[in-house]
Amino acid sequence: MKVGIAADHGGFELKETLRDFLANLGHEVVDFGAHAYESTDDYPDKIIPLAQAVSKKEIERGVAVCGSGVGAAIVANKIPGVRAALINDHFSAHQGVEDDDMNLICLGGRITGNRVAEEFVQTFLDAKFSGAERHLRRLNKVIELEK
Ligand code: RB5
Repeated sequence: MKVGIAADHGGFELKETLRDFLANLGHEVVDFGAHAYESTDDYPDKIIPLAQAVSKKEIERGVAVCGSGVGAAIVANKIPGVRAALINDHFSAHQGVEDDDMNLICLGGRITGNRVAEEFVQTFLDAKFSGAERHLRRLNKVIELEK
């Protein structure tokens, strides 16, 4: 799968770990930065290009990391077509895709350990939208808001 990844300084270390993890799994990974640790960088500058690439379908799924994952989720959801969520549990990592067609996972580099984050990301990428009528109905109501 073509997967994008991005982080600010709060998520930089975890982003580096996840990029190598995804590449080792055979995914094509597009790294939107930060490309070096910069203690004063701002999460919107890193996450917006990733979210725009998800929106344009240049990449299939996105992984965004900041310190808590909160800022990443807030800004990513401003981009039409992006369905981002902060994930801190295994159930939501797959159910968010199956029911809500989540296409961008947000993680907290200061919250979630590397191995747990890898499991969340792998679970997210393995999950597929169910396409069930009730989920499509709900999703269309969300998409209507973007018009
Ligand atoms: C940066 O210090 C921190 O605020 C940011 O990474 C993120 O946690 C925002 O939600």
